[in-house]
Amino acid sequence: MSHKPKKSKRRPVPPAPTPAAARRSDLGGPTLAPALTANLTEPVADVEPTVENAPAPVWLFVLLMLLVYWGMLQLDRTAGGFSNLVYGPYQSYKELAELQPKSGPEMLIAKGEALYGIVCIACHQPTGLGSPGQYPPLAGSEWAQGPANRVIRIPLHGLSGPIQVKGQTWNAAMPAFGTMPPLDSDENLAAVLTYVRQAWGNQGDPITPEQVKAIRAETASRSSQWTADELSKVQ
Ligand code: HEC
Repeated sequence: MSHKPKKSKRRPVPPAPTPAAARRSDLGGPTLAPALTANLTEPVADVEPTVENAPAPVWLFVLLMLLVYWGMLQLDRTAGGFSNLVYGPYQSYKELAELQPKSGPEMLIAKGEALYGIVCIACHQPTGLGSPGQYPPLAGSEWAQGPANRVIRIPLHGLSGPIQVKGQTWNAAMPAFGTMPPLDSDENLAAVLTYVRQAWGNQGDPITPEQVKAIRAETASRSSQWTADELSKVQ
């Protein structure tokens, strides 16, 4: 390829603006180069549009100021003074979750958790893992998740003697809780057992106050603690 020196194509210098074009550019805003208006027979490609500066219209500033003012009034009226009570009323996600409306079973579990914290936690621990050699675990326990008729009897009258839980043998005694508050109430006993059966990944069915009532009536004559042997015969 040969490189011929290019003929420099210089754009024709636009002639001075006609008085009419000059007047038009006085109105503000971009105007076409006077070349366009001056000589309409010139090829279009040669005409370069140019932009000139123009002052922003005053009404735009006035409108902006009005909008800002309106925005401030709006914040004053509806922003609650940016009070923490309005914008950050909860300290933790847990606090918020606890305040949500609860359905029947959720309420039973929330109540059960509170009762567990009062009655059972000292021995079976917050983790439900009990304590080695003393208190058997409820988390993952086949008894805690076992048949309702069996598990209801345990807190009602207590339990003593050897028992196998999760492959380990325990031999201690758990007192009866069924006749003293708060577990003398069928609803409370049902709540705490439902919690135990569903906490820590446990998957037992919920226990209803009616079930507790029926077992309470069935075992009314009993005064001694249960043994694991006796319980395993209950279906
Ligand atoms: C004073 C300590 C103590 C308290 C309080 C207590 N337990 Fe127990 N619990 C035991 C012991 C000890 C055993 C094992 C008894 C045995 O060796 O025969 C046991 C066994 C159990 C078992 C069967 C075994 C297992 O690990 O699943 C269940 C279910 C149970 N407890 C539930 C509860 C519930 C529900 C509460 C609260 C309402 C509660 N316990 C409160 C000491 C306690």
